[in-house]
Amino acid sequence: MARKSKSYPILEKVLITDFAAEGKSLARVDEQVVFVPHVVPGDIVDIQLTRKRSSFMEGRAIHFHAYAENRIEPVCEHFGLCGGCKWQMLPYPDQLQFKQQQVIDNLTRIGKLELPEVSPILGSKHTEFYRNKLEFTFSNRRWLSKEEMDMGEKLEVNGVGFHIPGRFDKVLDIQKCWLQDDIANQLRNSIRQYAIANQLSFFDLRKQEGLLRTMIVRTATTGELMLIMVFFYDDKKAIHNLMTYIAATFPQISSLLYVINAKANDTITDREVHLFKGKDHIIEKMEDLQFKIGPKSFFQTNSYQAYELYKKTREFAGLTGKELVYDLYTGTGTIANFVAANAKQVIGLEYVPEAIADAKENAALNNIQNTLFYSGDMKDILNQDFINKHGSPDVIITDPPRAGMHDKVIEAILFASPKRVVYVSCNPATQARDLSLLSQTYTIKAVQPVDMFPHTHHVENVVLLEKNDSEL
Ligand SMILES: C[S@@+](CC[C@H](N)C(=O)[O-])C[C@H]1O[C@@H](n2cnc3c(N)ncnc32)[C@H](O)[C@@H]1O
Repeated sequence: MARKSKSYPILEKVLITDFAAEGKSLARVDEQVVFVPHVVPGDIVDIQLTRKRSSFMEGRAIHFHAYAENRIEPVCEHFGLCGGCKWQMLPYPDQLQFKQQQVIDNLTRIGKLELPEVSPILGSKHTEFYRNKLEFTFSNRRWLSKEEMDMGEKLEVNGVGFHIPGRFDKVLDIQKCWLQDDIANQLRNSIRQYAIANQLSFFDLRKQEGLLRTMIVRTATTGELMLIMVFFYDDKKAIHNLMTYIAATFPQISSLLYVINAKANDTITDREVHLFKGKDHIIEKMEDLQFKIGPKSFFQTNSYQAYELYKKTREFAGLTGKELVYDLYTGTGTIANFVAANAKQVIGLEYVPEAIADAKENAALNNIQNTLFYSGDMKDILNQDFINKHGSPDVIITDPPRAGMHDKVIEAILFASPKRVVYVSCNPATQARDLSLLSQTYTIKAVQPVDMFPHTHHVENVVLLEKNDSEL
């Protein structure tokens, strides 16, 4: 039954039946699928349609008639408005079950792959405070709730927190975030208080003006702590006073940095970083390895689960000390350096030259002498000449971005013809596509989903492929 609204109808009392991609859920109405965010199977809702296509519809829940029985109370006061932890209303075991099923569905439906028994997903021991990096945005027009606006009082409009999903100019002022160690909350709340008391200007995202732009907090399991303050312009006195306040209030900061960024976008990768106090990096540790993390370095955002992921990758690689290993999409060389002690040589390839510089530095820091790193676009650099020059690998580890691997990279893997391929993926849909292209020559021997991001729909998956006997 449908009631008319402005443009699209409202569907009444619809039972949500399944999870769908990208953290949404779905319902079936008159044999058509409707995708809805912020609901879970078992909820009964009125849906305001926002989009109609011949094969599917999209909408949002505007009224809940009943909540799914397995729903729990989200721990976070910002749940619902903040885009960060969309699944906090689901018990963690249910989240894991869905992620496990998502991996199986993608590999079997998209890849049409034959799978061995899929290992139970490795859940994260830390379901809160698991991230090692967060970026908060300052805004001079923070998001105001209806209740706040109805109060009619003069409100503080400056805020610092996260963008409201889909609203580049609206920032939700965050009091307590459950994603990173509580020191991030203490830093953000203290800096907000100081800035308001001292009348520092918060950024105007529409007009592009204001001193305080973003702040980035990085933590490590070693206890080291980095803070990068990003300013829109170089007000030397205000910056000095604020940085002095931060240094005095938080003596535990190991690396206190700032950046002046007057560009239109927030990225600091092309900006100079100024050291205010401490070191220009922090150190992360895994087993007896150290990783140097600078303000621009990439590192997996859940260090605890990254360790589980890397251990599984190393186990699947089945190294004996004699192998030549290629680590494709090596980033800052973390996997390459992590498995190096078990291989004869590891060659890491990666697009970003700065990441390759970090990879080499980390190898040197750990006195690893059997890793080599090269930068370039994978589809260009991993070619027959490269493989002929460096030798055919016994094992290829590949960890591509969400888009998966380019056809030319898959062709190069088939040409290189390693005995084993370990495919680490953050997107089982593109992984399924790529695996089906390898499936003529390789058989899937093991599948291990890993949860790196509790309370989100994201899932990581590690697959072990072995070359078919006929190809050996
Ligand atoms: C999922 S991350 C890999 C992370 C790394 N294995 C780790 O655990 O730290 C994917 C990496 O692929 C790199 N990348 C993306 N597109 C690429 C391309 N066309 N050629 C080479 N590298 C690429 C990105 O810069 C990123 O470092």
